[in-house]
Amino acid sequence: MTRFREFLSTREPGPSAYDIYPPNLPEPYRSSRYKIGEDMYAAIGVTREDKAGRFAQFAKNLDLFGAPAAIFCFFDEIMGPPQWSDLGMFLQTFMLLAQEAGLDTCPQEAWAVHEAAVTEFVGAPEGQRIFCGVALGTADWDAPINSVESQREPLNVFATFV
Ligand SMILES: Cc1cc2nc3c(=O)[nH]c(=O)nc-3n(C[C@H](O)[C@H](O)[C@H](O)COP(=O)(O)O)c2cc1C
Repeated sequence: MTRFREFLSTREPGPSAYDIYPPNLPEPYRSSRYKIGEDMYAAIGVTREDKAGRFAQFAKNLDLFGAPAAIFCFFDEIMGPPQWSDLGMFLQTFMLLAQEAGLDTCPQEAWAVHEAAVTEFVGAPEGQRIFCGVALGTADWDAPINSVESQREPLNVFATFV
C-alpha cells in the first residue's frame, strides 16, 4: 500500500469516469442524499460553510480512510446496467465474506476520479473501466463518523404488496 500511496501522490484526480449520481437528482433521492451527507458532516463537526473541512473529508476517500489494503473493481466497457448490478451482487458477497473473515470494508465509488492512475497501477487491460475501490481493514468504531447510522425507508415505502 505504501507503493500505491506514493504512486497516487504523483497523480491528480480527473473528472469522474461515470456519473456517480444522475445529474439534477430529483426528489425523493435528492433529500436522502443530502441527509446522509449532513448526518456525516455533523458527526465530525464540519459545518456547511466549512468547505475546507468537507474537501478534507472527501480526500480521505483517496487515502482509503487509512485502510491497509484495498481491491479495485473494473468492468468491461461493453457491459451495461444489468452487468453493473451483477457486480453489485459480487461486491455484496465479497463484503459479507470479508466480515466473516473478521475484516471490515468500505466500498468507494470515489475512485472513479482516479481511473487513469488506478488502471495504470494495477495494470488493468484495455477496455476495462473502473467501478469502485473497496477499502479493506478494521473499522475504528471509536471514530465519530462511524457512529452515523444511515436512515432506511420503511418497507411499505419501497415495496408494494399486491
Ligand atoms: C458501491 C458503493 C460505493 C460507495 N462509494 C462511496 C464513496 O466513494 N465514499 C463514501 O464515503 N461512501 C461510499 N459509499 C457508502 C459507504 O461505503 C457506506 O458507508 C456504506 O455503504 C455503509 O452504508 P450504510 O450505513 O448505509 O449501510 C458507497 C457504497 C456503495 C455500496
